[in-house]
Amino acid sequence: MAKKFYELNPKERLDQLALPTELTNRFLAQQDTKRQNLIENYLTDFALPEGIIKNLVLDEQLYQVPLVVEEPSVVAAANNGARMFALGGGFRSVGTGRALLTGQILFDQVDVADVQAFVNDHRQEIEAAAQAAKPSLYQRGGGLQDLVLRELPGRRASLDLVVDTDQAMGANAVNTILEAVKALFMPYQEQILGAILSNAGDHSLVSVSGRVPVMAVGGWAMAKRIVALSEFAKVDPKRAVTENKGVFNGLSAAVLALGNDWRAVEAAGHAYASRDGQYRSLTQWRLEDDQEFLVGELTLPLNIGTVGGALASLQTAQDNFAILGQPDADRTKKILLAVGLSSNLAALKAVAGAGIQAGHMKMQARTLAVQVGAKAEEVAALAAVLAQTTINETTAKRLLGEMRQNGSKD
Ligand code: MEV
Repeated sequence: MAKKFYELNPKERLDQLALPTELTNRFLAQQDTKRQNLIENYLTDFALPEGIIKNLVLDEQLYQVPLVVEEPSVVAAANNGARMFALGGGFRSVGTGRALLTGQILFDQVDVADVQAFVNDHRQEIEAAAQAAKPSLYQRGGGLQDLVLRELPGRRASLDLVVDTDQAMGANAVNTILEAVKALFMPYQEQILGAILSNAGDHSLVSVSGRVPVMAVGGWAMAKRIVALSEFAKVDPKRAVTENKGVFNGLSAAVLALGNDWRAVEAAGHAYASRDGQYRSLTQWRLEDDQEFLVGELTLPLNIGTVGGALASLQTAQDNFAILGQPDADRTKKILLAVGLSSNLAALKAVAGAGIQAGHMKMQARTLAVQVGAKAEEVAALAAVLAQTTINETTAKRLLGEMRQNGSKD
């Protein structure tokens, strides 16, 4: 019998797709045997540019933070923001965030009092089943911390299992525990719709703040505009979405560089942004100390891991942890928040100031220069000329030709 597509090896899959030879060869050249089993239907590896935030200061320590991203300006903005915070002494973190991830067993059409009685009668079995499902987590000091039944409208209920996941993001551990615990609820199997972790992350809030001398953003008037702009996003969800996207520009790029699940981080962040019923911006900005300092704060639910998950197969992500100095999960989360706050400050300063196009145009000019075939040593010169004119491909090609002609005459 013919193999199913997912049973083929990557080369056979590419052959079946009957792509142009040039494309197939490129895909073959980019394959990596270590990652062929990380996902299904693997074809090839997809490379993205990696840059770095040089010298992010957090709790009086210096960090070099790798960022992986496709959008021009994100790395520049994050560096710019981190530099302005460094001028005020850098970021401060608050408390020690525990790695708590909640899992849910979802009950439909039940008498909640009955389920509660069942939970009370079987608490010990539930705890034992959780431990038996993930003994290695218990050996590391993690495991089930809390068990809460929440009543929901329409005869629904959620049994929330709060699990300490130690240094791992914990998705697999929590799902394994949930399925073992679910099996104990024999009388309710029909009414259990599913058992799955919650990405809400409300048990793992982390906070970071930082002060920026108003002179670093161009003076008191600009600092006031930044505060006003951030307050605008407290009352207008349309603006809040864009501002929060700017926070995740750097934050998600760092999460990705560390081989973690940036969709989970963003989903939790956006849910947190709507915690009072209206979607608002995530960061808080105010003026302090006789209006000499602009103060920014960011609190977010963050579930990330420094071990486990896809990390074992992602050598570059492991190397990026090494660049960061092998922080534990708690420190990593705080670094990530500092990155988010840096991106946010740079974006607010640009939007409230000259506008973001000024910076973007420079990056676009560089991207276009590369696109039309400029060599590494030609990019800066061509980008500088392009930035003075209307940026489009035809102009870029013409200018590159002229530059090369003039160069060959010298
Ligand atoms: C662009 O990627 C992000 C910004 O739009 C964020 C913001 O408007 O605050 C600049």
